[in-house]
Amino acid sequence: MNRSDQPIEALLDEERLFPPPEECSRSANIADPDIYQRAAKDPEAYWAQAAESLEWMRKWDRVLDWNPPIAQWFVGGKLNVSVNCLDRHVRGWRRNKAAFIWEGEPGEERVLTFADLYREVNRFANAMKRLGVQKGDRVTIYMPMIPELPIALLACARIGAPHSVVFGGFSAESLRDRINDAQSKLVITADGSYRRGQIVPLKRNVDAALKDCPCVEKVVMVRRIGDAAPVAVDETRDVWWHRAVENVPAWCEPEPMDSEDPLFILYTSGTTAKPKGILHTTGGYILGASLTHKWVFDAKEEDVYWCSADIGWVTGHSYIVYGPLANGTTGVLYEGSPDWPDKDRWWAMVAKYGVNVFYTAPTAIRAVMKWGESYPAKHDLSTLRLLGSVGEPINPEAWMWYHEKIGQGRCPIVDTWWQTETGSIMISPLPGLTTTKPGSATFPLPGIDADVVDEAGNSVPLGGGGYLVLKSPWPSMARTIYGDPKRYEETYWQRFGKNVYFAGDGCKRDEEGYFWLLGRVDDVMNISGHRLSTMEVESALVDHQEVAEAAVIGKKDDIKGEAIAAFVTLKEGAEGNAGKVDELKKHVVRKIGPIARPQSVYFTAELPKTRSGKIMRRLLRDIAEGRALGDTTTLADATVVAKLKSQYEEG
Ligand code: WTA
Repeated sequence: MNRSDQPIEALLDEERLFPPPEECSRSANIADPDIYQRAAKDPEAYWAQAAESLEWMRKWDRVLDWNPPIAQWFVGGKLNVSVNCLDRHVRGWRRNKAAFIWEGEPGEERVLTFADLYREVNRFANAMKRLGVQKGDRVTIYMPMIPELPIALLACARIGAPHSVVFGGFSAESLRDRINDAQSKLVITADGSYRRGQIVPLKRNVDAALKDCPCVEKVVMVRRIGDAAPVAVDETRDVWWHRAVENVPAWCEPEPMDSEDPLFILYTSGTTAKPKGILHTTGGYILGASLTHKWVFDAKEEDVYWCSADIGWVTGHSYIVYGPLANGTTGVLYEGSPDWPDKDRWWAMVAKYGVNVFYTAPTAIRAVMKWGESYPAKHDLSTLRLLGSVGEPINPEAWMWYHEKIGQGRCPIVDTWWQTETGSIMISPLPGLTTTKPGSATFPLPGIDADVVDEAGNSVPLGGGGYLVLKSPWPSMARTIYGDPKRYEETYWQRFGKNVYFAGDGCKRDEEGYFWLLGRVDDVMNISGHRLSTMEVESALVDHQEVAEAAVIGKKDDIKGEAIAAFVTLKEGAEGNAGKVDELKKHVVRKIGPIARPQSVYFTAELPKTRSGKIMRRLLRDIAEGRALGDTTTLADATVVAKLKSQYEEG
């Protein structure tokens, strides 16, 4: 990335400032701005003090052993994550506090107190032991968002068996590859799950996957659906959950885990076709997840907190299960889709449970925007006091809409940057301290040493852009790629030397030091020698009042190197015609400058997205450049891209 080419103005001229509301500053968990300096001056002392908030079976001997790029945190310490999430709450008054308020898509409700959760976790931990699972054995979990899912994770943590959760929307083949890579002994699943009123046959996918997984000895199945989802039962291999927990002891001794013992593996996409099994360990991870949950979401004892992610992604691991439970927080757990039975499902639930803190993704916010403000307006959202965003850069328009229509102008927004690999939030406002700007994740959290560097690894002065890096280790960092330590070092710790973590994201900083994330560097375009982020152009397009969502790619061009192709979804009622194409091009030119003028604009009813909601630009590039479509297995809806392709080929 050549920073002299950066059209920085587009984002950095954001002038709207949102200081923390007075009430929030007064009551915030972190209200002393000196925390940043204290952490920077002596990071080890800072992390050591933070780690006192956990319950240790044996205290650590050293805070950090750093042999770049290999870090070990809280060396010699012993603890158990399930004890930190359950036992210590159950011992005191929180035993009868709700840990999860669950709602199934068809509408069932189930509340689990910490004591309930504790009991279920102990029993299921014993059930797994009885099925032969021992400390260190891997367990693959392929389940819907039902209470048994967090129970399964915590039970694994209790017996020291690293879990590998595979999102329930993945295919049998993806599941197979992940099971084999982790060499799992046990698979936990359900007969099926509900999605927009349809039944997803999870167990059938497991059966298909297991045709080629000789490592798997047993399968545990939750009966979620019942008669409507009949399953084939292999008597030697498959056992129902409710049978597995029959007649097991109510107490399971928690395994004393070394700080550096693995807690879980979570697969994520890399630049090659093979997903990477990101490995997280025990002490550092639970510290990162719990501390950031407490600070970024300003977690309060009486809160009802809702993270709308799926536990199949890292956001669900850290901010539905581990962080909130370690803090004794009441969380909402929802099985289904936001538009079922209607597009106000989320807001009906916010009102019903009195949700105080809500954490979701920009793609969801833009969908909600597209559906229109009448849906949230139908419900009482007055309990909300804090809103979060994660997963991709949030464009200022979506930020403002979230702020005004959901937060009713009252709630601070925390735009949180992090990755599967970082384990917990790295860059984010602290709601009681940070003045926010729409579209900026603001500043690295205390103790996080983030920087923006150029091609040569030199720090770029304020006002410039480059690559986002993390220059010091942090407790919740990934320790390796499971089974491929070399790939781990090459992917993250080589580009700028073995001391510097390369995040793979582009970033700019404004004159005040605010971080503006620009998306993956693989999505950066080069237009006539000018570098432009796809996100900047998308943000400009979405700024147009008739645009609901846009995806921009750099299409190969003989003259310019790359030309901008924009795929645009218009809001309901707007018409995509030649006049609109012209208008949108002009709009982008007005927002960013002539170099950002899209060469082509395609209208589409929907954009191809992964099941986690990320736009698959690679496929758009294939379409725009007339190539055969690449791998579409991670798409949420493969017909979207097929439709788009035929539409484009017809002209
Ligand atoms: C992107 C999700 C801008 C980024 C927690 C990162 C973001 C990738 C933000 C990680 C944000 C996540 N602003 N970009 N607030 N949060 N990203 O591993 O490109 O699924 O590298 O983790 O998402 O995605 P992952």
